[in-house]
Amino acid sequence: MSGSVGNILDVVILAAGQGKRMNSTLPKVLHPLAGKPLISHVIFAAQSLSPRDICVVYGHGGNAVRDALCMPGLLWALQEPQLGTAHAVRQALPHLRGDGTVLIVYGDVPLIQTATLENLVHAAKDALAILTVELSDPTGYGRILRGAGGRIVRIVEQKDATDEERRVREVNTGIMAVPVERLGGWLARLSNDNAQKEYYLTDIVAAAVGDGAPVSSVSPGHDWEALGVNSQEQLAELERIVQRRMAGKLMEQGVRLADPARLDIRGELLCGRNVFIDVNNVFEGRVELGENVEIEPNCVIRDSRIGAGSRIAAFTHIEDAVVGADGVIGPYARLRPGAELAENVHIGNFVEIKKSRVDAGSKANHLAYIGDAIVGRRVNIGAGTITCNYDGANKFQTIIEDDAFIGSDTQLVAPVKIGRGATLGAGTTLTKDAPPDSLTVTRQKPVFIPGWKRPVKKGN
Ligand code: UD1
Ligand code: MG
Repeated sequence: MSGSVGNILDVVILAAGQGKRMNSTLPKVLHPLAGKPLISHVIFAAQSLSPRDICVVYGHGGNAVRDALCMPGLLWALQEPQLGTAHAVRQALPHLRGDGTVLIVYGDVPLIQTATLENLVHAAKDALAILTVELSDPTGYGRILRGAGGRIVRIVEQKDATDEERRVREVNTGIMAVPVERLGGWLARLSNDNAQKEYYLTDIVAAAVGDGAPVSSVSPGHDWEALGVNSQEQLAELERIVQRRMAGKLMEQGVRLADPARLDIRGELLCGRNVFIDVNNVFEGRVELGENVEIEPNCVIRDSRIGAGSRIAAFTHIEDAVVGADGVIGPYARLRPGAELAENVHIGNFVEIKKSRVDAGSKANHLAYIGDAIVGRRVNIGAGTITCNYDGANKFQTIIEDDAFIGSDTQLVAPVKIGRGATLGAGTTLTKDAPPDSLTVTRQKPVFIPGWKRPVKKGN
């Protein structure tokens, strides 16, 4: 049973087309919008109506669409070959239970909102309801042709339209709702006698009108809901629309954005109070920013948590990592998967941390690689320090205990342990555990030769 629309509802999502105009080997509906495939946005909107069944028509690219989504609970109808949108819906019919209303949505019209779909389904109680919108530039879309009294007569595709018909600005969004028992009959009657030699779903409007069935139209809450993706250019336009809306929501929540047009969220960004995000930051997957976090320009942050009061300086990359409270990271730092920093940790320029825990108050301010390590509290890691964690076959762990001081240009050849309070002199190559509270140096003593004469060039 459908929930919110008070009637039995099934949804058919058309996603079998190749998307020729994308010029890409990736099936069109898998192109990413805000980090998710186009079709995922449509499925999400469909699911929010709590329909009985959702059937996806797939075809071009074989199982690529099915495999990419791997969502349980969807029905799949194969359309092979792809002979047009009406032919696509016909492939879905045997999967439906033959009663109630069918809502047909297109996998390449991803911004459609739940409220609009609900209105459309309500309008389809008696017969066919189509979602139309007036666009200032209707190029490429099917045009809605109305007759006496403004009644819808038929839809003409761009390629079949006369110059006069092309001047019509009311377009078909492709989205429609129809009682299923009428749908089969209308579909069976369509021909492919048109410019593209395809069976057009849009032709069921004329079929319904021919039967004397009422055809109503509903318009979306916002014009952008109806925008379709047929080219890379349209995909980029929709991306900016989605991004601007997400930026707007963040600002409503109190997030300060240096420029809402220069922010990219490819997933979910959760922000505490008083967060400031400077320009050109990219957030991917699920990212959480605590209270008072500041993100300087040009960072990429993926699937990570940044603790309250931390500052992420410019050009920093963070992936699958946790930054504790009051950290200072970057500029030009790289936190790789498994980096876990406790509070008040400073990671500076050209420092890479991988699969390591760094405890409170520790610092690595310049040029270092810390991998597979456990670093205690208040540790100071000098410039040029490297954990040699890999022998070409296996990875080994480095343990640095509290209050250790690692001098510059030091190699920690793992497995190795630096004891609590130990000091390593600059240039140390550590191959054995360094005892606590002692100085370890492995460098040679300098030799001084007074009056040394440099060689001179022979010949002249
Ligand atoms: C379609 C509409 C057009 C409307 C526009 C809105 C038709 C004939 N035309 O045109 O009136 O203005 O959408 O965006 O319906 N598909 C299949 N199987 C096929 C062909 C297409 O599943 O054989 C799917 C595609 O994957 C896509 C959707 O149907 O998700 C629409 O196909 P597309 O080729 O993009 O149609 P448009 O030319 O955009
Ligand atoms: Mg399209």
